[in-house]
Amino acid sequence: MLERTFSIIKPDAVKRNLIGEILSRLEQNGLKVVASKMVFLTRGEAEGFYAEHEGKPFYETLVNNMTAGPIIVQVLEGEDAIAKNRQVMGTTDPEKADAGTIRKDFAVSMQQNSVHGSDSPASAAREISYFFSEIEIFSGN
Ligand code: CMP
Repeated sequence: MLERTFSIIKPDAVKRNLIGEILSRLEQNGLKVVASKMVFLTRGEAEGFYAEHEGKPFYETLVNNMTAGPIIVQVLEGEDAIAKNRQVMGTTDPEKADAGTIRKDFAVSMQQNSVHGSDSPASAAREISYFFSEIEIFSGN
């Protein structure tokens, strides 16, 4: 099914000049960038984005890491884009990620894990609309 997902290239990866490497992996796996921008999240914006993790022991560090520098937010489109993106990213903990995945190859730690990707259609819809309006998304081009 043709689907959209939301993707972030996190501060640790932007800092280390890995935007191109990560985008290549996504594109080579059939994911198409249909919306993209660089933003520098305020604390409030990061807290709102990760609201579901509020109260968890890693929440504070997560917000600190996500506000440590600019990020790339993007909408990816493709066949089963949500699952495909998660497969290309690898699991949250880079030490457990499969060989050849973005997190295995580039992530520093569970917190500085280089990329974020939506985990369900509901979170994809919420996350996309957190950053993009429909006229900023260029599907089918
Ligand atoms: P992300 O896909 O951006 O979604 C939430 C983030 O919280 C996750 O990537 C990790 O960076 C971080 N995270 C999730 N679980 C843990 C954990 N158990 N310990 C530390 N960080 C975590």
